Amino acid sequence: MTIRDALAQVERRLGAAGVDTPRVDAEWLVAHVLGVPRTRIHEHGDVDEHELERLTRRREQREPLAYVLGEWGFRRLTLNTDRRALVPRPETEVVVERARALIANEAGPRVLDVGVGSGAIALAIADEVPAARVTGIDTSPQALELARENAERLSLRIELRRAGAEAAGEGWDLVVAEAQPELQWEPYDALADTGLHDEIIRAARTTWLVLEVGYGQAREIEQALRENGYTETKITRDLAGVERVVEGRRAEHSR
Ligand SMILES: C[S@@+](CC[C@H](N)C(=O)[O-])C[C@H]1O[C@@H](n2cnc3c(N)ncnc32)[C@H](O)[C@@H]1O
Repeated sequence: MTIRDALAQVERRLGAAGVDTPRVDAEWLVAHVLGVPRTRIHEHGDVDEHELERLTRRREQREPLAYVLGEWGFRRLTLNTDRRALVPRPETEVVVERARALIANEAGPRVLDVGVGSGAIALAIADEVPAARVTGIDTSPQALELARENAERLSLRIELRRAGAEAAGEGWDLVVAEAQPELQWEPYDALADTGLHDEIIRAARTTWLVLEVGYGQAREIEQALRENGYTETKITRDLAGVERVVEGRRAEHSR
């Protein structure tokens, strides 16, 4: 099938299925089948109809694009993505930005990512702050397996182990965490723990704590930080202008 016909057909089907961005998604799927970047699909004449059909059907069922493609970009990295963990989100990149700013000048800072999922935050910190010694923990063995695959894919060294939020009490220079509700496709356990932030705030023995929070939660979390003895609290907005990341310093509790 010609690229032009394929794009038109997939766009029409995804639009009918209620996908918000049918044209862009059609381009992603065609590019994936061709094995080229999205900007180069028009350099090709034809695309394999059977493979495209398989991917289009999955997207028509409203499976997230990142799962259908099997990989997704986060900061400078491309990570494997599938149903073992949530898809790394653009707004989560702000967590990495703040982490980098807080530890960039430290010698060998010890960093913990609570709920490491696909490994996105932990691996991006390892990539951007090479001096950091990064540990990622998760209660889900499937998520840890995916994070391990991503560490190998990217040749980045991080420690990964199965543990809960209590690991934040082990003594760190920086603890980061992201816990947010999302779509039906993604693993239920990843969504269930709304008390995770509270637990981390109480348990953490760390100089810095950086938390990604849900829409409208930032002020409440900042208050909780203050009530638990954190100083220098700060809220950072994401690119959409939403108050997304809350941080604080807990010097007297550090390692
Ligand atoms: C929203 S995902 C975050 C994924 C990843 N940080 C990212 O940015 O893509 C939350 C992760 O936390 C894990 N999790 C949930 N409760 C936990 C707990 N009490 N202790 C450790 N990990 C937990 C889930 O298994 C899931 O992988």
